[in-house]
Amino acid sequence: MTLQQVAIDMVRKGQGILAADESTATIKKRFDSINVENNEINRRDYREMLFSTKNAMQDYVSGVILFEETLSQKAKNDQSLVELIKAADSIPGIKVDKGAKPLAGHPGETVTEGLDGLRERLEAYREQGAKFAKWRAVIDIAEGLPTWGAVKANAHALARYAALCQENSIVPIVEPEVLMDGDHTIDRCFDVTSFVLQTTFQELFDARVDLSAIVLKPNMIVSGKKCTTQASVDEVAEKTVKCLKQHVPSIVPGIAFLSGGQSDIEATAHLNAMNASYDMPWNLTYSYGRALQAAALKAWAGEVENEAKAAAAFFHRAKMNGLASKGEWQADMEAV
Ligand code: 13P
Repeated sequence: MTLQQVAIDMVRKGQGILAADESTATIKKRFDSINVENNEINRRDYREMLFSTKNAMQDYVSGVILFEETLSQKAKNDQSLVELIKAADSIPGIKVDKGAKPLAGHPGETVTEGLDGLRERLEAYREQGAKFAKWRAVIDIAEGLPTWGAVKANAHALARYAALCQENSIVPIVEPEVLMDGDHTIDRCFDVTSFVLQTTFQELFDARVDLSAIVLKPNMIVSGKKCTTQASVDEVAEKTVKCLKQHVPSIVPGIAFLSGGQSDIEATAHLNAMNASYDMPWNLTYSYGRALQAAALKAWAGEVENEAKAAAAFFHRAKMNGLASKGEWQADMEAV
């Protein structure tokens, strides 16, 4: 399969990506919320439950982003978790960045690290079955932020990562995330995201990345979480589509959004509104972490006897988002 075909497959109609690549520190926060100890067995059991939810995986999950540990973990029956994902006709991928670290000379801003040794790591990940990778850059909006220096440094790292992925026959998910924390307006989110996307595509071009073999993972254009005026679903859809059309070349096969702290229903409603009302050159779908997992995590609560309930919650959310990726979701479908 060519890289381009893998990218197209990752954003196939009616399906999207499950982001299950929480680092050990991030999954601790999720487990703390349900009072579950953050150890390797619990992480394995939780993720095995998700990947074994056959109906959700086969019908609505085109690919799964894994954390490095999961790539070599085995299910209770000794099958590898990667094989479990593949058996559901879903594509395994791997988060390869080493996280956002303070950017020297830029108080309050970060740059994502992990380029050193990445070529060798990508070779090893490919051997282990990863067909795509993810790198997340983090841009915060605050008084006077982001700075040009921070946006440029992050876009440059994303582009160098993407070029290395393609050199090693791995599709890069390019994720420049503008955070929704803070009290900024939706228009400020639009302006900052515009600037970040424009800079990212310039850097991708300079790095000679083949844009027909990437998946873009952006934030939606939303009001800051603490903004006193919260934009409507229609406004989010309109502004997000406008921003993407201004900056994302049409040769990019697909755009898979992060949920970024939106509620489950918001993330679904926003995606649905875009797909229901706009013609776009790319497939528009989800690459959600929290918005796909929150209900399942809560239902699971670390107990084997809750696995069926958790799987049902995961199936429901995956189905709702699958419908939203075709613009066929309606709010009354949420009543189960
Ligand atoms: P959220 O959907 O929870 O934002 O996670 C997606 C992701 O992969 C962030 O890097």
